[in-house]
Formats: sequence, C-alpha cells, structure tokens
Amino acid sequence: MNLNIAVLPGDGIGPEIVDQALKVTQAICDKFGHSLSHKQALVGACAIDAVGNPYPDTTHDLCMASDAVLFGAIGAPKYDNDPSAKVRPEQGLLAMRKKLGLYANIRPVTTFASLIHKSPLRKDLVEGADFMCIRELTGGIYFGSPQGRSEDGLTAYDTCVYTVEEIQRIVRLAYKYAQQRSNKLCIVDKANVLATSRLWRQVSQEIEKEFPNVETEYMFVDNAAMQIIQCPKRFDVMVTENMFGDILTDEASVITGSLGMLPSASVGIHTSVFEPIHGSYPQAAGKDIANPLATILSAALMFEYAFKLMDEGKLIREAVDASMAAGIVTEDIASDGKSHKTSEVGKWIVDYIANKK
Ligand code: IPM
Ligand code: MG
Repeated sequence: MNLNIAVLPGDGIGPEIVDQALKVTQAICDKFGHSLSHKQALVGACAIDAVGNPYPDTTHDLCMASDAVLFGAIGAPKYDNDPSAKVRPEQGLLAMRKKLGLYANIRPVTTFASLIHKSPLRKDLVEGADFMCIRELTGGIYFGSPQGRSEDGLTAYDTCVYTVEEIQRIVRLAYKYAQQRSNKLCIVDKANVLATSRLWRQVSQEIEKEFPNVETEYMFVDNAAMQIIQCPKRFDVMVTENMFGDILTDEASVITGSLGMLPSASVGIHTSVFEPIHGSYPQAAGKDIANPLATILSAALMFEYAFKLMDEGKLIREAVDASMAAGIVTEDIASDGKSHKTSEVGKWIVDYIANKK
C-alpha cells in the first residue's frame, strides 16, 4: 500500500516526538512492504513566526492532499503570558480541526501494567481501566460566536452553540463505537444548567431509540469528573461536548500513570489527524527527554483508522509494551532513576519492529 502522510511537528517538543513516530511509521512500512511518502508543514507558533499565520493555506492544502496527518503539539509560553496577543498558536490547531471538518476526537484511555505504580490512584481502582472518550471537536464554546470583549474592555464573553445536526452526528458515531465494544454508552452533559446540554439530551434520547441494544446512561459532567477518579472501571464509551471532553480527558489520562502516554484520532469529513493528547511541554523542548509514546501510539491509530492496517497498528502497540517492560522509557515514567532519551526510546522501538520475526 502507498501511504501518503502530512507531518505537522508544531512547537516545543513536537518535532522530537514526531521524529520518533515517523521513524516507527517508516519501520512498519518497511516491515510490511508499504511505501511511505511524507511531507512536512508548519503549524502553531513556528508558523506565526515564519509567515504570521498559525495554520497557513499551504499547510491546509498539504493536509487536504494527504491520506492522514501526523501531528505533534502546539503552544509557546510567549503567547500564554500575553493575553493581548492577536494571533495565538492554538488558533492554528482549532482552524485545522474546523477546516478539515474533524468533528470527532477519539481518545482511548488504557492502563499499562508497568505504569500502574505511577498512577495517583490506588492500584485496585485503576488496574484494568479501559474506556474511550469521544469528544465533539468542532462546536461548542470553542467556536461559538460572539466571543470577545465589550468596547470598554470590562466585560468578556464566549458563546456555547450546538445545532441538532452537530449533536446527531457525534452521538451516532459514539453509538457505533459502543456497539463495537461493550454496548454501553455514557452521555455526559450539564443539562441541569445549560441550554446546549438540554438540546444534547433531547437529541440523544431520540437517537437512543435507533440503538436499542446499547445501554445508555446520562451523566452530569461534574459527577463524571468525580467518577473517573472514584471508579474509572465503570466507564466504557463516553461521549461529550468539546470543552467537557478536553477537561475530562486530561483528567482521565493521568489516572493511567502519565499524560505522556495517551494518543488520539480526530476524524470527520476530510483527512484524519493523529496526535498525542498532551501539549508542547516547552520546558523540555530540544532536550531529548520528552516521552514519545503518545505520538508513537497515535501512529498506531493512524495505521488502524486511516489505512485499516490492523496488524501494523498492533505491532506498534506490542513494541511499545515491550519497550516499557524492558525499562526503555523516558524520565517521566522511569523507575529507579534509570531513564532513556526520547531518541533512544524511538530507536529501541524501531529495532524491535525490524527484528520481529
Ligand atoms: C487538546 C488541547 C487543545 C484543546 C488546545 C491546545 C487548544 O488542549 O487538544 O486537548 O483545548 O483542544
Ligand atoms: Mg486538552
């Protein structure tokens, strides 16, 4: 098969982690006899610095012309600390999601046996937890208009907007994922307070009837945040709106031991994007210390979701498990002070794949 991918490293640790994922992608292609072509483009703060736009048209054109996008991270401290900045790196990521029509962000939350001791939760609570959070990605308060400040600067506002159509397509997609797993779906909202959430619930109750074999549960987001900590194993597939999903998945990721482990797939109308759920970790940029596993696992999702190449994705996961079992890991997840560089972890995984019989 011919794989034609766009590579968007972005900012901070983005280039280092994407390098490892790309090496792994190449190793898998060599192993299975696929040919890989890849082109890089700018996104985020580096794109603002180079061309004044965090998601340049040339980058969008490349994404549209590719079969999949492998994405690193975006964000830079000089923007975080400057609330008056007119263009922000994050706008690049949001513009990409919107222009590619990526309305569903799939975030699998899995635990890793060799990492359980790093979890802030007790082993018996977290061991075996395995659920999938499906986050709506192109609507809600991230995109609603108006957003801004009053003329006197004393008032600011964001608007949360959802249409019936936007809710229908994400909830239907979530039901389909639930059917592929345990036929259980938890729909998370704040219907006791928000009008958009009440529309979510109303639309979901209609769609529920189309999937009688799926057990549906409705849960308020504050309760969900609490239950993810108290009883993570009770969840299987969860679907929620954009901002709730952003917050709940950061929370969910750390119960598995490290934010550096969780991949994601963003799918929808045009080219799908595969990216780690963590950020650009600017303090570590260029130091070769960042954990590349979330990005490498995102490459596994890319093989599975974008190319339907299941054995390829499986071998990446196996190699990642083996690297952890062998203790070839970065400092965030190392035990006994024995840690390895980002590039060493990548190389070990590449060698594992190359040598696999
Ligand atoms: C994420 C990130 C982004 C988001 C930021 C960087 C805009 O936190 O992908 O979860 O909020 O969606
Ligand atoms: Mg986030």
